[in-house]
Amino acid sequence: MMKLVIAKDRFQKEIDELALITEAEPPVVTRVLFSEADIRGREFVKRLCREAGLVLRTDEAGNMFARWDGANGKLSAAATGSHIDAIPNAGKFDGVVGVLGAIEAIRALKKSGYRPQRSIELIVFTAEEPTRFGIGCIGSRLLSGVLRPEKAAAVRDRDGKSLDEWRQGAGYAGSLNSVCLPKDCYSAFVELHIEQGPILEHESTDIGIVEKIAAPSTLRIQLTGVGGHAGTVLMPERHDAGLAGAEIALAVEGAATGTGSPDTVGTTGVFRIEPGAVNSVPCRAWLEVDVRDTKAATRDAALAQIEFAAAEICRRRGVVLQTERVNADPPAICDGSLVETVAAVCRQLGIAHKKMISRAYHDTLFMAQVCPSTMILIPCRGGVSHRPDEYASPEHLELGVQVLAQTLAQLAGSTGTV
Ligand code: GLV
Ligand code: MN
Ligand code: MN
Repeated sequence: MMKLVIAKDRFQKEIDELALITEAEPPVVTRVLFSEADIRGREFVKRLCREAGLVLRTDEAGNMFARWDGANGKLSAAATGSHIDAIPNAGKFDGVVGVLGAIEAIRALKKSGYRPQRSIELIVFTAEEPTRFGIGCIGSRLLSGVLRPEKAAAVRDRDGKSLDEWRQGAGYAGSLNSVCLPKDCYSAFVELHIEQGPILEHESTDIGIVEKIAAPSTLRIQLTGVGGHAGTVLMPERHDAGLAGAEIALAVEGAATGTGSPDTVGTTGVFRIEPGAVNSVPCRAWLEVDVRDTKAATRDAALAQIEFAAAEICRRRGVVLQTERVNADPPAICDGSLVETVAAVCRQLGIAHKKMISRAYHDTLFMAQVCPSTMILIPCRGGVSHRPDEYASPEHLELGVQVLAQTLAQLAGSTGTV
């Protein structure tokens, strides 16, 4: 297998440029779905795709598709892709590596003289991150049919603004009914991503190949207590929604550590109280809880324990509890032969690699329901992600693109030689 020439300086420069399109002060990256920064980021990516000679289209959810037409239009395309939205206070690599890296992979393949049999399609998914609506992977959920259009229409942000209002504001006004992909439209899907964990770095391994993605879930909790004056409402009289929330957050920790599985993790990442004044008893609290495990049954047992504990805590404190399971997705099992294809590419290129679980979720979680799927992971410094100091080395970025490009060439087949 001949090594492809990856324009790593240009790739790095594009990552740096996209990182400057942010709602926050650089180097902090914040690009929440359909924010002005997200829309400008999309334009940036579209320009690169056009310059690379790709055919662009978007669907009504705002998913973007950039296609390199293969010689045989009757064959289903080989797909790759990721996301460019970023949580508040994020770094510049999460998602972006899989989008800009795919563009560079295609450019490198084109430059080498390779011509694909199948088309190769880059998908830039809408809202992999759950920031705006509390639910992640909206684009790939709709594409896979896991999220029904009528359910998506009911999704609202914390100010009550609907997905329809947000997407219409961004220029996507049509019905979501057309978003779900037809059967057999892709032959395979491979996502390049930073690991977001420490294993590859610890083991001095350059590439991870994902065999399974842990099962994620989100629980939304609303607590209504009784507010009042912080000086005059005596302690036995209180129904403090904030304290009920605090106890629930501890119960989340207890449930996650108590399953007996080291794979269970539980996080209360959103915790807001009202009125949020120092001399006022909190009358309302909102919590968003993330629970995951590699086994859905273990995760579900932890979720049930949290709901049970929340009910007891609220009864005891005289606080009204409302809970909603926003999502509780099964783990994704990646395609064995696709994993082998990526492993063979690594072997032929002499790259140290290992098969592994992804504990972060990705659009691949849902693409795995559409077609055979897997992921190519590269190390990131200290395993750090979802932070501004997230970092992947230029060498690993180059290797990731090399492996992605060679894998896509294998999947799409060739009309000549690479
Ligand atoms: C994806 O960003 C995740 O939270 O795993
Ligand atoms: Mn992320
Ligand atoms: Mn990501």
